[in-house]
Amino acid sequence: MKGIVRGITGIALCVFLTGCSCNTCCKEDGGCCEKQECKCCKKQTCEQCNKKGCSMQQAVIENIMTRVSVRQFTGEKISDEQVESLLRCALAAPSAMNKQPWEFMVISDEEMLGLLGETFPYSRCGNGAAIAVIPCGNLERAINGMEDFWINDVSAATENLLLAAHAMGLGAVWTGVHPNAERVKQLQDILNLPEHIVPLCIVPVGVPDEQPEVKDKWDASRIHYNTF
Ligand SMILES: Cc1cc2nc3c(=O)[nH]c(=O)nc-3n(C[C@H](O)[C@H](O)[C@H](O)COP(=O)(O)O)c2cc1C
Repeated sequence: MKGIVRGITGIALCVFLTGCSCNTCCKEDGGCCEKQECKCCKKQTCEQCNKKGCSMQQAVIENIMTRVSVRQFTGEKISDEQVESLLRCALAAPSAMNKQPWEFMVISDEEMLGLLGETFPYSRCGNGAAIAVIPCGNLERAINGMEDFWINDVSAATENLLLAAHAMGLGAVWTGVHPNAERVKQLQDILNLPEHIVPLCIVPVGVPDEQPEVKDKWDASRIHYNTF
């Protein structure tokens, strides 16, 4: 469309269609990169975002860069709406061939949380967590012949969950289950999971009772351009 608009009618039509007179940015969808509402923040034009920075982009990047593992919680409960928001973010993750080969166990029952904390002390479920989310792979939904892709898919969902928790002022930590066969079996037994539902990890979530330092992990020597 960009080429067609430019080629056939030139900048004048672009101005007419988009109301933009910057003469440089008539876009394929008929919009204009400068005057158009920013698709990210939807609060100001792209022109303003380019000049001042887009507050939403900054907030997303800030959220990624300040997430830390939280292992100590106050014991306060969180609302059903908060739990749903976390899960909506988890399920928004990418997955190979969009198979979404996942199931999510949400543990809110105090006794169950206590049992998880006792059985898997490393999971921190006994440290005042409001809930534990257990992202699982559903092998019956996995890609035929490439079943292990479920691990990538459920990992992406787990990271989304951690980032959402942080954005909502909650704390969370990824605690490992798969590929430790013993932990997988123990957890399957406790949660009554059929064999084809494989827990990847346990994620306790709650109101933080600690503020761990953010770790600076940037290391330019680990980045390789074009060849290793
Ligand atoms: C696959 C995996 C397994 C983990 N297992 C545990 C665990 O069993 N217990 C725990 O406290 N933290 C666990 N963590 C959290 C890591 O210790 C933590 O992400 C790491 O130290 C970096 O710290 P940060 O998350 O604050 O950036 C795990 C993280 C990953 C990705």
